[in-house]
Amino acid sequence: MITVTPRHWPIGVAVLALLFTASVRGEHSSPATLAVPVNSAPHRAPEQPLPFSHREHVAALHLDCSTCHTNPEPGRQMTFPATSVCMGCHASIATDKPAIQKLTTYANSGEPIPWVRVYTVLPGVTWTHRKHVQAGVKCESCHGSVGELASMQELSAVTSMASCIGCHQKRHVSAACVTCHAWPKASLDVPAR
Ligand code: HEC
Ligand code: HEC
Ligand code: HEC
Ligand code: HEC
Ligand code: HEC
Repeated sequence: MITVTPRHWPIGVAVLALLFTASVRGEHSSPATLAVPVNSAPHRAPEQPLPFSHREHVAALHLDCSTCHTNPEPGRQMTFPATSVCMGCHASIATDKPAIQKLTTYANSGEPIPWVRVYTVLPGVTWTHRKHVQAGVKCESCHGSVGELASMQELSAVTSMASCIGCHQKRHVSAACVTCHAWPKASLDVPAR
């Protein structure tokens, strides 16, 4: 049995303090803004062609998401930023940095930057950003505290069926199979025996 004698006091206090800090940090890293479960699967940030940091651009420079991500017709997808948006600043900012020199090479080549995707729904699922953005669902409700990320990672489980249905039920949006799946109705009917 472990007895806490006065000699062990300082260690006990230190452990408690550590636990306390850890729990506060834990709360902080599971953002209160999320309306879907956090992604419990491992989700390390994929290596990107350039070390782009949302924290450096959103939290530090207060850039709006729409500076870089728009929602053109038909509205299913958000765009990845055009390199010209980056060059609006980086033609003159941090031009001595290797990453910005690489960015400039992409810009001069006219090739889009081959960003590695982080969030993907299965093909065949009916999905659109447009309806969600129009209904006032915030980016952070589905993607978490993007502005605090030094490198993009799949913080939330938004691409899972349970997350979609969970929010639809909470918001009284249809959760019938046909809302998200275009299978022929007949294929859903269980044949009589
Ligand atoms: C209701 C949840 C939800 C909201 C709100 C939402 N997203 Fe998404 N986002 C997703 C899902 C799901 C995907 C994966 C879509 C796919 O595979 O086509 C995604 C993918 C993306 C992508 C990758 C490109 C694409 O469209 O596939 C970007 C960039 C993005 N979101 C940015 C944003 C921004 C910026 C906002 C706010 C204006 C936002 N999202 C709001 C769920 C959401
Ligand atoms: C509104 C201006 C602005 C825009 C637009 C902008 N950036 Fe930046 N970016 C900055 C500033 C300011 C810094 C910090 C520079 C520093 O620390 O010297 C920075 C830093 C960076 C860095 C880190 C450089 C280093 O090695 O320290 C990278 C990489 C970067 N930006 C890439 C991009 C990309 C890619 C885009 C377009 C998607 C972009 N930026 C758009 C202003 C901008
Ligand atoms: C200065 C430009 C810039 C701003 C501002 C910006 N982003 Fe991004 N975003 C990018 C770039 C570049 C990528 C691709 C590289 C990466 O994943 O980090 C990206 C990737 C993403 C992705 C991952 C898409 C995928 O599935 O691959 C999401 C989600 C996203 N941004 C959401 C947001 C939200 C929400 C905001 C506002 C809070 C925002 N971004 C503001 C430039 C920007
Ligand atoms: C955070 C809440 C939330 C999440 C998460 C969410 N949705 Fe939705 N969804 C809504 C709301 C709100 C609407 C808008 C309903 C309206 O316009 O009346 C909507 C509308 C839709 C529509 C349009 C329905 C119609 O009748 O026009 C589709 C399709 C859809 N969602 C699919 C999905 C899929 C697929 C996912 C998961 C990848 C998902 N949603 C995740 C809240 C959510
Ligand atoms: C609000 C949106 C939504 C609704 C409603 C919904 N699903 Fe899904 N479903 C999804 C998404 C998103 C995926 C992909 C999940 C993933 O990638 O892990 C999926 C995947 C599936 C899959 C596996 C992949 C496939 O396409 O075959 C099956 C089976 C499925 N759903 C059945 C159903 C059934 C049955 C219903 C009705 C009871 C239903 N779903 C209702 C969003 C939805």
